[in-house]
Amino acid sequence: MSNDHIPFNKPFVVGKELFNIAQAVMNGVLSGDGEFTQRCQTWLEHHLGTPKALLTHSCTAALEMAAILSEVGPGDEVIMPSFTFVSTANAFVLRGATPVFVDIRSDTLNIDEQLVASAVTSKTKAIVAVHYAGQPCAMDSLLQTARNNNLILIEDAAQAILSEEKGCSLGTIGDLGCLSFHETKNVISGEGGALLINNKQLTERAEIIWQKGTNRKSFLRGETSKYTWVDIGSSFLPSELSAAFLYAQLEHARRINSHRRTLYLKYLDLLGPMAKQGLFKLPAIKEEKPANAHIFYILCRNPDERGSLIKHLAHNGIDAVFHYVPLHDSPAGLRYARTHGNLPVTTEISNALLRLPMFTEMATSDVRRVCTAIAAFYKTQPPNQNSGT
Ligand SMILES: Cc1ncc(COP(=O)(O)O)c(C=O)c1O
Repeated sequence: MSNDHIPFNKPFVVGKELFNIAQAVMNGVLSGDGEFTQRCQTWLEHHLGTPKALLTHSCTAALEMAAILSEVGPGDEVIMPSFTFVSTANAFVLRGATPVFVDIRSDTLNIDEQLVASAVTSKTKAIVAVHYAGQPCAMDSLLQTARNNNLILIEDAAQAILSEEKGCSLGTIGDLGCLSFHETKNVISGEGGALLINNKQLTERAEIIWQKGTNRKSFLRGETSKYTWVDIGSSFLPSELSAAFLYAQLEHARRINSHRRTLYLKYLDLLGPMAKQGLFKLPAIKEEKPANAHIFYILCRNPDERGSLIKHLAHNGIDAVFHYVPLHDSPAGLRYARTHGNLPVTTEISNALLRLPMFTEMATSDVRRVCTAIAAFYKTQPPNQNSGT
């Protein structure tokens, strides 16, 4: 990185992407489900540990497939956090179902599993576990609630490639898992995603939905004599060009995550003394291997201070951003969803969270520059504000 500008994110290219794309062109298959799609799917099945992976053109598409596979419709409810990206909710609203927003835990920022158990009603059909920043939700407890109530469990693992919970890759624990390869993620193909089908009973229908509602896959395998329209579906598969790009990235996925962990630990190290003074909070989960280090965030004391810090960093050539604007009080959230009780942690976190630059090309010297700029900012804050929270 140059000394001038530290962007919030920069798409990382490992180097073999164009070579793979050229090979796809020479293979003569540019539409979906060609050799590179197969290779990516096999990689995901092998390295994550799932019986079936289908590449999609986005995690949004994978979530939409999951919503179809859950067979939800009008009158059904789906439990999920409000502190998430819109696609988590949209996928189910598109089927006519109602998202039920549940509060998050203040340590992992993931859905509060205790509240999930109490949010289940006779209308509940599914639970969506969003692994925020690649940190695992409490999957044992969520699995238990799903089993006790005959619910489908979907993991929104958009941010969680190669993160694990008790030796299992995130996305492979629930019935279905959804990954993102959007350019903001650790492993990318511009736009891209995958659906992991962990419940084998859903595989056949998933292949049909993936191929526009046709039995094309089983026809190509010689299992049926006719290729025809058999169910609802859409064009959920990516082109071979995206798959060729993605395959180059997947081969380096562990190296990418490992470098990001180095950056993450550097942030923790340099910001630790300031956090101890109560100037802001660091992520509560600080173990030596912080999942896949997808996001690094701090929790500011209040939204005004966060706004001033963003401006200060921008003045120093550093981009930092906040999210999520909670879904439950967004215009669409008010129209299409309901909440389970109040969501105080969601509101508090969304007012406090600031994401610092985190991208694979970043160097530890960049992390140092960001932390130095943050330290300079807090020197300018009035001491009466420095009491900590
Ligand atoms: C939690 C979560 N779910 C779903 C998505 C949607 O992913 P995509 O952009 O691949 O559709 C995102 C994207 O950032 C996300 O963070």
